[in-house]
Amino acid sequence: MPRARILVVDDEPQILSTLKKALTLEGHTVDVAGGIRLAEERLAKSGYDVLLLDVSLPDGDGVDLLERQREAGNQSAAIMMSGHATIDAAVRATRLGAIDFLEKPLSTDRLLLVVDNTLRLIRAEEDVRSLRVATGYFDELIGSSAVMGELRGQIERAARSNASILVQGERGTGKELVARAIHRASPRSKGPLEKLNCAAVPRDLIESELFGHEAGAFTGATKQRRGKFERASSGTLFLDEVGDMPLPMQAKLLRVLQEREVQRVGGSETFSIDVRVVAATNRNLAEATETGEFRADLFDRLNVVPLSLPPLRARREDIPELAREFLGQASRNNDRPGVSLTDEAVQALAQHSFPGNVRELKNLVERLVILTPDDVIQADDVRRALGMGNAPPARGIYRPDVPFRVLAEEAERTIIEEALAAHSGQMAATARSLGMERSHLYKKAKALGLREPSS
Ligand SMILES: Nc1ncnc2c1ncn2[C@@H]1O[C@H](COP(=O)(O)OP(=O)(O)OP(=O)(O)O)[C@@H](O)[C@H]1O
Ligand SMILES: [Mg+2]
Repeated sequence: MPRARILVVDDEPQILSTLKKALTLEGHTVDVAGGIRLAEERLAKSGYDVLLLDVSLPDGDGVDLLERQREAGNQSAAIMMSGHATIDAAVRATRLGAIDFLEKPLSTDRLLLVVDNTLRLIRAEEDVRSLRVATGYFDELIGSSAVMGELRGQIERAARSNASILVQGERGTGKELVARAIHRASPRSKGPLEKLNCAAVPRDLIESELFGHEAGAFTGATKQRRGKFERASSGTLFLDEVGDMPLPMQAKLLRVLQEREVQRVGGSETFSIDVRVVAATNRNLAEATETGEFRADLFDRLNVVPLSLPPLRARREDIPELAREFLGQASRNNDRPGVSLTDEAVQALAQHSFPGNVRELKNLVERLVILTPDDVIQADDVRRALGMGNAPPARGIYRPDVPFRVLAEEAERTIIEEALAAHSGQMAATARSLGMERSHLYKKAKALGLREPSS
């Protein structure tokens, strides 16, 4: 039986001495109190793993004591003991998380058994919790390189605070995964994680998406709608592609973050907000503030804690691990159970520069799994796939017996990849240069697997 610190509260001296003796013999450290006042004094001084509480005491009620302890944040396991327990007291104690309700007269053996089980339960919960701390927030985030290890540490530290976090990194480096990890590692993990992709939402709808609107606020606003800030209350709001937010909207967002209050579009009521903001961008926002494309004051607000994701080519040692993980996923998703990569194939992957970072690697591995007829993927298959994905010449897209749809998609993918690369992944600039609506480009890129599907 694991040792524990136990407080016994009862007004019968006989019970106190019997229980103290029995529990001490089991190796526990035991304090006793004959009433509520003394119990509270002891509780103020030290922490206990288990509280054994009588219900009716001369100076108060054991359930009330438990309630005050819970309000003060005490999470100790509680076991109630009572000679004439009312159902009402039992229900209240259960709501307060009491583990058991023992009838008096007590059987010492039974009590020792309940304490023993309780301690096992506590230890098991602790194990689960520490396991979760060790891996849980990060189970999606693969990579044992030193930079990734450091990033995990930064995420854990940053997650504890309420400060705004700005995640910067090239496209496909895992910014969204990091945002999720932050939320899960934070005290807000039980609250919602809401996401707004500032590049995917048409300009004139961003405001109502963020702040909500009242019925009739504008044409098409038939019903009242809550915005992301309201929906994310007590949780996290992830502002993706924040660098693509139009300037007038940046001003409004800044005001909301300063005042911690929102007003729905067309509404007059203000709501105070309880939201931690995580923003992400693949643009160099510091530079964008110099050219006036991004407000410097908003940048400062968002960038309280900066997290920067290294490009995949700066942590090539992660490539084999990532490739094997993506191979497993692709083989499951495409029903190709026996498929594998040779060591040479993995090496060939590790030599590529991956301008599209982890997403490019993931898509490439999936393409290999689908296109390689053999179960074993060789280095040559990798080289061929890389050559194909990179930049087929303007002429020579046609190949015999490949359906038009597939060829056209290849050409579209190439055009968009090249255009994005030429504009450092900035959606707005790329769309302008291609003469497309930004949200249309976004959808296209998503359909081609150049971007993650997003809400
Ligand atoms: N460290 C990682 N471990 C496992 N998968 C990863 C990792 N980093 C990225 N991925 C995967 O790569 C893809 C791209 O990641 P994500 O969407 O988070 O990137 P991003 O930085 O937000 O990209 P973009 O700037 O294009 O929006 C996703 O499928 C994600 O699951
Ligand atoms: Mg993203």
